[in-house]
Amino acid sequence: MTEIINSIQKIAVEIKDAIKTKDTGKVESLNSSGDIQVKLDVISDEIVERHLLKTSSVIEIISEEKEDAMPANPNGKYFVAYDPLDGSSLIDVDLSVGSIFGIYKGGYSGENIVAAVYIVYGPRVEMVVARDTVELFRLNEETNEFEFVKELRLEEKGKILGPGGTQKYWYPYHKEMIDNFFKDGYRLRYSGGMVPDLHQILLKGGGLFAYPGTEDKPKGKLRKLFEVFPFAYVYNKAGGLAVDGKNDLLDLDIDGYHDTTPCFFGSNYEIKKVLKTYEGAE
Ligand code: AHG
Ligand code: MN
Ligand code: MN
Ligand code: MN
Repeated sequence: MTEIINSIQKIAVEIKDAIKTKDTGKVESLNSSGDIQVKLDVISDEIVERHLLKTSSVIEIISEEKEDAMPANPNGKYFVAYDPLDGSSLIDVDLSVGSIFGIYKGGYSGENIVAAVYIVYGPRVEMVVARDTVELFRLNEETNEFEFVKELRLEEKGKILGPGGTQKYWYPYHKEMIDNFFKDGYRLRYSGGMVPDLHQILLKGGGLFAYPGTEDKPKGKLRKLFEVFPFAYVYNKAGGLAVDGKNDLLDLDIDGYHDTTPCFFGSNYEIKKVLKTYEGAE
């Protein structure tokens, strides 16, 4: 595991440099989720692939930008699923983006995840590592080493709200729930990049990030392997909760590598409100 985390640190430094120096344009292709790829999606994917394939404890990798899994080291024991560049449509407007890694033992499913790591490329580069605890590290750009900052814990109740999905297609009970949070004093914080949006909630003590199922996309947008399971693991280990409306996200299995699910991440108070709202819904 230490070997994988060390590889991820090297990956983060290379992706950070690529973001700062390479062309921000699009390529003429769609990925398996139907996203328009930008050149940096492809470059970042190649950086991660190159490092993870030579990491001896990794047996297999799968990426948002790859159709299928790729074998790594036959003697390795960890399966790694990753989103090389999260929020890539925000690159051209210079908002924060990220990379997300889920590390699994015995195959890909919510219950098999054993660690999660994400990187935020913002004004500073930060890394969050969730194993038994959730720890924040910051990149020292002089030495290119990540330095430990502190352990992260969510409060019981937070103050900020990141409500995703196209509002026009929200189910009425979902809209009512979001309206009620705002009436209760929650403040809107949604950039369109789940890494900085969820990082903000985690560092500011708590709140709710929601990417629900909608009339046009009943299974939501965010992908179980590349986005949802890793953040569900982080939020659980930080003392919060992560659900699909009814079930714990880490109780879910996958039917395909690119499966999506409605998802809600937050502190206990907000997630209990979500469960209550969705309990009666069809
Ligand atoms: P990616 O750039 O890896 O395809 O992911 C984008 C995701 C996620 O970061 C974000 O929360 C969500 O898409 C935003 O979707 P909307 O534009 O529908 O808000
Ligand atoms: Mn994408
Ligand atoms: Mn993403
Ligand atoms: Mn991505």
